[in-house]
Amino acid sequence: MSSAAPVPAREPDSHAIAIASERRWAWVVLAIMALLVAMMVFTGLHWAAMPPSRVETVDVKTLHLKGEFVESNLGTSVGADGKVTVRLVAQQYSFEPQCIVVPAGMPVTFRGTSTDTIHGFVVGTTNANTMLIPAFVSTFTTTFAKPGEHLMPCHEYCGTGHEAMWARVQVLPAAEFMAKAKPGERLSCVAR
Ligand code: CUA
Repeated sequence: MSSAAPVPAREPDSHAIAIASERRWAWVVLAIMALLVAMMVFTGLHWAAMPPSRVETVDVKTLHLKGEFVESNLGTSVGADGKVTVRLVAQQYSFEPQCIVVPAGMPVTFRGTSTDTIHGFVVGTTNANTMLIPAFVSTFTTTFAKPGEHLMPCHEYCGTGHEAMWARVQVLPAAEFMAKAKPGERLSCVAR
């Protein structure tokens, strides 16, 4: 009987300590959750309020008639400064040009847009990958490490013909590519 007396005296103490400790941890968890929500709200609003840098637009209605993306200007060109640029247009359900030639081991800048809906492409297993959005010019620069052939499928669902929408990319040794490239001409590997 005498040993029972200290037990009820200690019990409320440890119980109170446990509750206080749990309450402390609950506040810590709540603080972490509040911090994460605050970060989500801040980054969401921040990105919504900031336009992406270097947005270039193009008029879809006159795309094929004048300017950079007329058919005769599509394909690969080598500028006076030696820079390699690929211009392409996507539409349901093909790319123009259907076969793209690029050099290996040299920076290649892609510039593309779409005439109708959102398309996209990825070149084989390389990091050449972008979306093509009507009225916007998508651009990126990449270097293909080695010569070879790649498939370039559309990777944004764009309609019933989506899975049949793809082009080919031929990566040539730089010397072979430069031998083919002529100033002012547009190169492609489309069979003519
Ligand atoms: Cu174009 Cu999918």
